[in-house]
Amino acid sequence: MAKMEVKTSLLDNMIGVGDMVLLEPLNEETVINNLKKRFDHSEIYTYIGSVVISVNPYRSLPIYSPEKVEDYRNRNFYELSPHIFALSDEAYRSLRDQDKDQCILITGESGAGKTEASKLVMSYVAAVCGKGAEVNQVKEQLLQSNPVLEAFGNAKTVRNDNSSRFGKYMDIEFDFKGDPLGGVISNYLLEKSRVVKQPRGERNFHVFYQLLSGGSEELLNKLKLERDFSRYNYLSLDSAKVNGVDDAANFRTVRNAMQIVGFMDHEAESVLEVVAAVLKLGNIEFKPESRVNGLDESKIKDKNELKEICELTGIDQSVLERAFSFRTVEAKQEKVSTTLNVAQAYYARDALAKNLYSRLFSWLVNRINESIKAQTKVRKKVMGVLDIYGFEIFEDNSFEQFIINYCNEKLQQIFIELTVKEEQEEYIREGIEWTHIEYFNNAIICDLIENNTNGILAMLDEECLRPGTVTDETFLEKLNQVCATHQHFESRMSKCSRFLNDTSLPHSCFRIQHYAGKVLYQVEGFVDKNNDLLYRDLSQAMWKASHALIKSLFPEGNPAKINLKRPPTAGSQFKASVATLMKNLQTKNPNYIRCIKPNDKKAAHIFNEGLVCHQIRYLGLLENVRVRRAGYAFRQAYEPCLERYKMLCKQTWPHWKGPARAGVEVLFNELEIPVEEYSFGRSKIFIRNPRTLFKLEDLRKQRLEDLATLIQKIYRGWKCRTHFLLMRKSQIVIAAWYRRYAQQKRYQQIKSSALVIQSYIRGWKARKILQELKHQKRCQEAATTIAAYWHGTQARRELKRLKEEARRKHAVAVIWAYWLGLKVRREYRKFFRANAGKKIYEFTLQRIMQKYFLEMKNKVPSLSPIDKNWPSRPYLFLDSTHKELKRIFHLWRCKKYRDQFTDQQKLIYEEKLEASELFKDKKALYPSSVGQPFQGPYLEINKNPKYKKLKDAIEEKIIIAEVVNKINRANGKSTNRIFLLTNNNLLLADQKSGQIKSEVPLVDVTKVSMSSQNDGFFAIHLKEGSEAASKGDFLFSSDHLIEMATKLYRTTLSQTKQKLNIEISDEFLVQFRQDKVCVKFIQGNQKNGSVPTCKRKNNRLLEVAVP
Ligand SMILES: Nc1ncnc2c1ncn2[C@@H]1O[C@H](COP(=O)(O)OP(=O)(O)O)[C@@H](O)[C@H]1O
Ligand SMILES: [Mg+2]
Repeated sequence: MAKMEVKTSLLDNMIGVGDMVLLEPLNEETVINNLKKRFDHSEIYTYIGSVVISVNPYRSLPIYSPEKVEDYRNRNFYELSPHIFALSDEAYRSLRDQDKDQCILITGESGAGKTEASKLVMSYVAAVCGKGAEVNQVKEQLLQSNPVLEAFGNAKTVRNDNSSRFGKYMDIEFDFKGDPLGGVISNYLLEKSRVVKQPRGERNFHVFYQLLSGGSEELLNKLKLERDFSRYNYLSLDSAKVNGVDDAANFRTVRNAMQIVGFMDHEAESVLEVVAAVLKLGNIEFKPESRVNGLDESKIKDKNELKEICELTGIDQSVLERAFSFRTVEAKQEKVSTTLNVAQAYYARDALAKNLYSRLFSWLVNRINESIKAQTKVRKKVMGVLDIYGFEIFEDNSFEQFIINYCNEKLQQIFIELTVKEEQEEYIREGIEWTHIEYFNNAIICDLIENNTNGILAMLDEECLRPGTVTDETFLEKLNQVCATHQHFESRMSKCSRFLNDTSLPHSCFRIQHYAGKVLYQVEGFVDKNNDLLYRDLSQAMWKASHALIKSLFPEGNPAKINLKRPPTAGSQFKASVATLMKNLQTKNPNYIRCIKPNDKKAAHIFNEGLVCHQIRYLGLLENVRVRRAGYAFRQAYEPCLERYKMLCKQTWPHWKGPARAGVEVLFNELEIPVEEYSFGRSKIFIRNPRTLFKLEDLRKQRLEDLATLIQKIYRGWKCRTHFLLMRKSQIVIAAWYRRYAQQKRYQQIKSSALVIQSYIRGWKARKILQELKHQKRCQEAATTIAAYWHGTQARRELKRLKEEARRKHAVAVIWAYWLGLKVRREYRKFFRANAGKKIYEFTLQRIMQKYFLEMKNKVPSLSPIDKNWPSRPYLFLDSTHKELKRIFHLWRCKKYRDQFTDQQKLIYEEKLEASELFKDKKALYPSSVGQPFQGPYLEINKNPKYKKLKDAIEEKIIIAEVVNKINRANGKSTNRIFLLTNNNLLLADQKSGQIKSEVPLVDVTKVSMSSQNDGFFAIHLKEGSEAASKGDFLFSSDHLIEMATKLYRTTLSQTKQKLNIEISDEFLVQFRQDKVCVKFIQGNQKNGSVPTCKRKNNRLLEVAVP
C-alpha cells in the first residue's frame, strides 16, 4: 500500500517563490519583486535555502496561534510555507534529536523586527519543549527576563517605538530530553550616550518614564523624585509620551517580571535608587567662576540636587562636589590636581551618568543570569539567540556605526564560512564532486578593522594611548598612512591619490567598502568614545558610597586596588567580546533570520522598494543566494522527489517497486533532462538550475490536470455504473416482490371461493341430517308422553284406593278407643274423690320445708360476729322462721367467739363493755375510743429511773399511769401532771421530778363530770369536808378520757361497792376552794384549729371551746 499521508511541499500554492534560491533570473530587481509580491499577500517570510527572510508587517498577523505551532511542529522544513516556526522547529529538533548545539542569528536594521523574531523563536521553543511545574518555572523566568531588559535597554527612536539599544545574545540550555534548564545572557554595547542626550523625536530609556509615571507617591518621595518629566534635563520632552504605550502599566509589568525572575525587594529598590540618582545627576548645573590666576573654574549652581543625590546614594557631599571641580592625575609617584572648567565639569557629570547607567545595566544582566542559570551540572545542549544591530548606514556615521558594522562584518564571515562549509560537507556526504564556488569572502574587510598590528581599531587604540596631543584628525592622518593601500579603505587624504578628486568623500571622513556597501565614517569623536573616560576622582567618590549596589559598580574606585594602567578602550573591549561571540557561534549550528523593514513609517501594507533594496544590499542577500546556489540550486531526498514527480513517467506511476533512487533515475531519463543539470547524491538528487525544477513543476502541474481528468473520468464512469447496478438490483428486487404479491393475491381469491362453495355444500348436507334427526326426536317424544299419561292414570287410581283403606282403619281404631274409655270410666268412678286433696297439700309442704333447710345449710354466712350477711327469704310464709333462725345463728356464733377468749382478753372486753354502757350515745368522744386498746400504765414508771422515788412511794398495783393536763383554776391554763390510779388512791405527781403533789383516797371521790362533746376535759369532784377536798375539785384534760373514766368507775365499784356518779353535761359546776365555777362547753368557735381551748371568763365561768 502506498502511504496515504498527505505530503505537502513548499512548492504548493507558492506566491512568487518561497525559496529565493529558485529565483530565475537572479538579480536585485527580481529579489525585491518577489519579496514585494509575497509581502502584498501577507507572506512575510521567504527562504534563501535554510535562511529565513522576515519582512516586518507592522500589524499583527494570525500566523502565531497555538494551532500554527501545532502545524509546524515536527514537520520538515520545506514541507509548509516559509515561517519562523519552521526554522525554530528545525533548530530545536536538531538540538534535541541530533545533539547539535544551535544558534539563531537575527540581524536587520532597527525596527526590522529582530527582537520580535527572537521572542517568537523563544515562545515557539517554550511551547514545544517539555512541560511540568519545574520546567514551566524555568520557561517563565527566561521569558520574563525580556521585559526587565527591555525597560532598561530599550527606548523609543524614530525608527522603532521599542528599539533595543543593546546587542543581546542569549544561550538557552536544555537537558538531553530537550527540557529547558536555564540560560545565560550576554549584552553588547549599550548605547549609553542616550542617557544624557537623545536625538529629536526620540526618548531616553523606557525605565525613566516608567518610574515617573508608574511609581507610587510613596516610592517617588522615597527616591526624592517628582512625577513631572519636565523637571529633568535628561528626559527629552517633545516625545515623552508614546502613542499606544502605557508607561505606568509597563512599570508594574517590569516590577512583576523582576519578582518572577528572582530579584529581592531590596535589590529592585536599589536598582530604582540608581535610576533616580542618574536622573537627578542631569539636573546638576555649573556656572563659571574666575580665579585670580586667570584659570577658569566651575561651581555648582544649586547644591540642593547634589545634596539629595548624596542622601540617596550615601556619598559624602563634599567628596562628590570636589570630584566635580577637580581632576587628579596620578603618574608614577606624582599626584597632580587640576581644576575643571564648566565644560569639563559637564563632561564629567555626563560621563558619570553614562557610566552609572551602563554599569547598572551590566549588573542587571549578571543578576538575571544568576537567577536563570541552570541548576544542574549535567551536560547541556545549547540554543543561542543573537539579537544584534544589523548594518547601519546613516548620513552621519560615527564610532558606534563603525563598531556595529564591524560586528556584522564578522557575522557575515561566519555565515559564509559556515554555509560554504556546510555546503561542502553536504557534497562530500552525498558523494558529489566539489565544484569551486565563486563568492565574495569578506575576511579581508575584517582584517582591515581588527588586525592587531595595522587594523583600524589597533590604530585607534595606539592613538588614544599615545602621549602628546591626540585628536580625531591625528587619528585620521595615521589611518591615511597605514591603510592607504587597502582595497576597501578610501580616504581623500591618503597617500594613494585614487580619491583626491572624489567630492563625495569629505576631508574629515574615511570610507570603508563593507561587503554590504560603502559606508562613510565621520572621524569626529572616535578618540573620545574609544577612551570612554571617567575621571578617577568620580569613580573613587562612587566607591565611597554607602549604597552597596553603587559601590559594587565602581570597583576601580577602591584606592587599595589602584591601577595606573588605563582601562581597556571601548574598541578593544568590543573586539574582544566579538571574538568570544564568534568563537562561541562557530561551535554551533547556525540558523539565520534576516529581518527587513518595509518602510520608515512603522506602517502596515507599505513596501518601499528603495528602502528594501538598500537593506537587501547591506544584508548581502544576493550574496546569500549566490553562495547557496553556487553548486546546485535545489536538492531533495529521493523519496519525496519520487513521490512528487512519479506521475510524470509510466514506469513510476502509480507505484515504483524498486529503490527510490532508481525510480528517480528512470524518471529523469524518461523526461530527457540534460545530464549536466543534475547529479545523484547518496540520498539526495541535486538540481543545478532552478529552471529545471520549474520545468518539472510545470510538467507535474500539467500531468496533475490530466490525472485529475482521468480520475474524474473514472470516477464518473464508476459512479454511473454503480448507479446503474444499483438500479438493476433494485428493479429485480421490486419485480420479485411484485410477483410474489400478485400470486399471493390470486391464491387468496381461489382459496376464499373454494371455502364459500364448500360451506354451501356442507350447510345443505347438515340441514338434511338435522331434519331427519328432528323427525326421529318428535316420534320418540310422542311415545314417551303417551306412556307417561298411562302410568299417571294407573298410579292415581292405586293411590285413591290406598287412602280409602287407611281412612277406614283409623275410624275403626278411634271408635274402639272411645268404647274402651267409656268402659273404664264407668268401672272406676266410685274409687276417686274423698281425702286426695289434703294429702297432696301436706306432701308438697313437707317437700318445700325439706328443700329450704337443705339450701340454708349451704348458704350459712361466716362465723364472724360482725358479719351482717344473711341469705334472703325464699317464701313469704317462712318469714318468722327465717328471722328466728338468723337470731339463733348469731347468738351461737357469738358464743363460739367468746369461748375462745383468755381471762385477760375477757377483762379487756369487760372493760370495753363497761365503757360502752357508760358512754355509748352519750359522749361524742366515745366512738373514737372503741378502736384504742386500754393500756393503763402508759408511763412505765418501773423502768424509768427518773421516777424511782415515785415508784418507791407507791406500794399498790398501778392501774393507770399517764400524763394529763391539769387545768389551772385561776386562769384556765394547763400544766402537765402524772395521773396515777391505784386500787385505793388517786395520785398526782410532778412530771419532771416525780414528786407526789396530791393523794386522794377513792372513797373521797364523789363524781366525775364531762361534756357530751368530742373533748377530753373532765372534772373529779371530791367529797365535801374530806381532807382532799380542801384544795377543791380537779379539772383535767386527757387523750384517754374514756379509758380513765371507765377504770376509775370499775375500781371504785370493786373497792367501795358504790357506783361512781358520772355526769355528762355541757355545763357543770366545779368547786374551786370556796367558789363554785361553772365550766361551759361551746362548740364551733374554732380560733385555735382542732385543739379545744380553755379560758377563764370571769369568777364564775370557765369557757371551753370545742372544735
Ligand atoms: N512579526 C511581526 N508581526 C507584527 N509586528 C511586528 C513583527 N515584527 C516586528 N513587528 C513590529 O515592529 C516593531 C519593531 O520590531 P522590533 O523587533 O522591536 O525591531 P528591532 O528589534 O529589529 O529593532 C515592533 O514593535 C512591532 O510593532
Ligand atoms: Mg530590537
